[in-house]
Amino acid sequence: MNNKEWSIKFSTLNNEIDDHHKELFQMTEMIDSTIRSTICKDNLYTLICFLEDYTCDHFKEEEALMLEKNFSNIDFHRQEHAYFQARVEPLRAMYERHEYAHAIFQIRQIIDKLVHHIQTVDIQLRKLK
Ligand SMILES: [Fe+2]
Repeated sequence: MNNKEWSIKFSTLNNEIDDHHKELFQMTEMIDSTIRSTICKDNLYTLICFLEDYTCDHFKEEEALMLEKNFSNIDFHRQEHAYFQARVEPLRAMYERHEYAHAIFQIRQIIDKLVHHIQTVDIQLRKLK
């Protein structure tokens, strides 16, 4: 069973309510198949490769700069980078399992959080100038 399937462990013990809930679970497959049919797999693969490189090479460069400049908030910054690396790491396996819809939603969330990271954490690099 995958997490998109309704299971007896989710039962409210009310048949009508359970039937409604089952419908919602079934809709997730419709959403996934709709997204699967519209996603450009080449673009998705490019995004995954970009994020893998970015969270490796770019983060290393930032952290090296912070070390060089003796930046006081480096531990927090490293934690944030580790969080992003952990989020990016499973994307390739998702792609290989053809879980395109799941991967694209994860990527959207990661990119949004990375933009926030740039605006709130990386901006502190200004102090090093
Ligand atoms: Fe950063």
